[in-house]
Amino acid sequence: MCGIVGYIGKNDTKNILLKGLKKLEYRGYDSSGIAILDDKINICKTKGKIANLEEKTKQQRLIGSIGIGHTRWATHGEPNDINSHPHFSNDKTIAVVHNGIIENYLELKENLQKQGYNFISNTDTEVIAHLYHSYYNGDMVETLCKVLKEVKGSYALCIMCEQHKDKFVVARKDSPLIIGLGEDENFVASDIPAILENTKKYYFLNDMEIGLIKKDNVTIFDMEKNIIQKEIFNVDWDISLAEKNGYDYFMLKEIFEQPLCIKKCINAKILNDDIFFENFSITNEQIENINNIHIIACGSAWHAGMVGKHIIEKTCRICVNLDIASEFRYKNPILNKNDICIIISQSGETADTLAALRLVKEKGIKVISIVNVVGSTIARESDNVLYTLAGPEIAVATTKGYSTQLAMLYMLCLKFAYVRKNITTNVFKQYIKSLQNIESYINKVLMVEDNIKNIAEKYYNIENAFIIGRGLDYCISLEASLKLKEISYIHSEAYASGELKHGSIALIEEGTVVFAILTQDDILPKAISNLKEVKARGAKIVIIAKEGYKNLDELSEDIIFIPKIDEQFMASIAIIPMQLLSYYIAIKRGCDVDMPRNLAKSVTVE
Ligand code: F6R
Repeated sequence: MCGIVGYIGKNDTKNILLKGLKKLEYRGYDSSGIAILDDKINICKTKGKIANLEEKTKQQRLIGSIGIGHTRWATHGEPNDINSHPHFSNDKTIAVVHNGIIENYLELKENLQKQGYNFISNTDTEVIAHLYHSYYNGDMVETLCKVLKEVKGSYALCIMCEQHKDKFVVARKDSPLIIGLGEDENFVASDIPAILENTKKYYFLNDMEIGLIKKDNVTIFDMEKNIIQKEIFNVDWDISLAEKNGYDYFMLKEIFEQPLCIKKCINAKILNDDIFFENFSITNEQIENINNIHIIACGSAWHAGMVGKHIIEKTCRICVNLDIASEFRYKNPILNKNDICIIISQSGETADTLAALRLVKEKGIKVISIVNVVGSTIARESDNVLYTLAGPEIAVATTKGYSTQLAMLYMLCLKFAYVRKNITTNVFKQYIKSLQNIESYINKVLMVEDNIKNIAEKYYNIENAFIIGRGLDYCISLEASLKLKEISYIHSEAYASGELKHGSIALIEEGTVVFAILTQDDILPKAISNLKEVKARGAKIVIIAKEGYKNLDELSEDIIFIPKIDEQFMASIAIIPMQLLSYYIAIKRGCDVDMPRNLAKSVTVE
């Protein structure tokens, strides 16, 4: 959702900005632009893809050693050339790019108009350019402090001034912004992949911090212009992880990276048949006394949380409340002493999840976050962060992010169960072995890719589908259904099989496609009865079943068998064919799987 890149240094500014913006394409955008400072600021911006911007930049002089760039995901004002960022002050001496929403922009606009400022766009961002101009006193940081004291809302901001050819300023509140540190050059970006090929050293800005970026140094200030000392984070992500490496799409590459990512995630926590969470501030005594667990997340991370709830309740006998972050915030949640909270977020920047985390912390509840992006806001604000180590996830639809979240939840669950003596040492050790096998079982599923591709060819032109399962299989169905709908635009509903007959079975008619997940022994007979009910009404059934389940042929058009593992880890195996199926169906339908319409990778608005 909107992306920022900024650069100062000796190299080709235009090229660095365009490359960085391309790397941020996955966040979702509808227009883009850059500004480069030479003797004056030159702006080039346009609606549409970055390829359009690249073409347009060829017709303009865009040379200089400072520049800012932006991909816009429209909120205020339609996507067009004028509303694209950067935005100028009226005299064109100040240029601004902004992510987020300025909530009081109408009020600010009115005041600025009274002072004679002329607005040419419909954006909220333009007020920043004029406000900055109105306060400008030659000191870029001081001016920004004044501006930020007036502004309400969320922002990541990058501002350039014609008068200052050796610096630019940045600030953030509730919208991510990182600073990349180079040699005689420095960078800013919304996200690490944009500048990963340039540097692996970063400062992560906190809310209400201002950065003054020069080519040979970066200084961070608070709102009173006091200097803040910052820790440098080294990010060990391999650059190749942010490239397609021969795959047609990032999504396919990331599906195939899952075995390795899960292995990395699990091995980082297992030592001598035990599970360790480094710097964990929750003692064994506190684990023994946990009252309720609250799992809070959005989208696929919430689906992972549902698997977590299922297995924690079953294995640890702790009651788990699972909440969608945007709902949790407004429900006056019941949080008691001895409760703990697990926040799940791949990006670590999701606005609703972050707001839920802050609310929980305010109530004095300990937060464990399961996060992928190192140094992200959720990671930094949690009492305990467990990094999933999946590396940069570029495709908008998560795959390896989700899978590693599951792996981390398994480990938390097992550790809690062991500490609370719900399972014996032997069982604990067996589970650990089983966890370590997940990687090879996923590899086995990936080997039947061609079979899955053939099935996709048969069903790609459907317009509706049901994905059903019971118990843990229902949790998997929810994630499978989201994958299918978000990248192929097929309307798909996940249903708990036993619930269909309470209404939705009315939609089943001759030819309705039903994907069924069957991995749980104890409810298999019941799940099969539910399949017979839809079959009797004309449904075409495709089954994803655990190896060894018999007599499914007469029920289904197609079956994909998946390897057996401990039942509570089956979500990790069963989701793989559904990811591949969704991918190949979407490809057949001509969809842009990496950047589905209307979606953004990191949802930083509420
Ligand atoms: C779907 C998907 C989203 C995210 C959700 C939360 O494929 O990726 O549903 O899971 O937007 O994002 P994070 O995990 O970054 O908080």
